[in-house]
Amino acid sequence: MKGLSLFIAVIVVVLVGHYVVLTYFDDHFKYGRMWETPAIRPHEVPIPVMTSGIVPFAGGDAIHAAMRAEDLQSPLDLTASENIDSGKKSYFTYCAQCHGKNHDGNGTVGQSFSPLPADLRSSKVQEQYEGRLFKGISFGIPNGRQPPLATTINPTDRWRIVAYVKSLGLR
Ligand code: HEC
Repeated sequence: MKGLSLFIAVIVVVLVGHYVVLTYFDDHFKYGRMWETPAIRPHEVPIPVMTSGIVPFAGGDAIHAAMRAEDLQSPLDLTASENIDSGKKSYFTYCAQCHGKNHDGNGTVGQSFSPLPADLRSSKVQEQYEGRLFKGISFGIPNGRQPPLATTINPTDRWRIVAYVKSLGLR
C-alpha cells in the first residue's frame, strides 16, 4: 500500500515537473509564435471593392485587334495640334530609326529590312484609313516587317502618332 502511494507520488511529481518545465520553456520561448503574428481571418475585414475602370468594357487592344480597320476610329481629334505635336515626339522615339527623320523610309536601322520601311508621306500610306495605320503600328502588317508596337506604346500615344503621320500628307 505504502509502495503504491509512493509510486503515485513519484508519477505526480514527474508529471507536474514536466508541466512546469514545459510551461516555463513555452513562456520564455525567444522566437515569436505563429498565433502571435498578425493574421487576417476570413471575413474579418470587408473584401476591398475594385476601383471602377480596372476591368475594361470598351477599348483595349483585344478589341482593336478584332475590329475592322475601317470601323476603328480615333477617340482623339487627329487634326488637333497638341496631338500632332505629341505624336511627333513619339515618332522620333519609336519610328525614326527605321522610317527616317524625313519620313521617307531611309532610317539607318530600316535599311536592313526587306521590304524597306514605307515612305510615310506617300499616297499609299496617306490614303489608308486611320484605323489601318493604327492597327499596322499596333499589331504589325500581316506578312510584313513593320514591328507590332502595341506593348511598347500606349493606345493614346499610338493615335497621336497616327495624327502625326496623317499630318505629313498635308505638307
Ligand atoms: C524596326 C523598324 C521599324 C520601326 C521601328 C517602325 N517601322 Fe514602320 N515599317 C517598317 C518596315 C520594314 C515597313 C514595311 C513593311 C512591309 O511592307 O512589310 C514598315 C511599314 C510601315 C507603314 C506602311 C504600312 C503599309 O500598310 O504599307 C507604316 C504606316 C509604318 N510603317 C509606320 C510606322 C510608325 C508610325 C512607326 C513608329 C510607331 C513605325 N512604323 C516603326 C519598319 C519599321
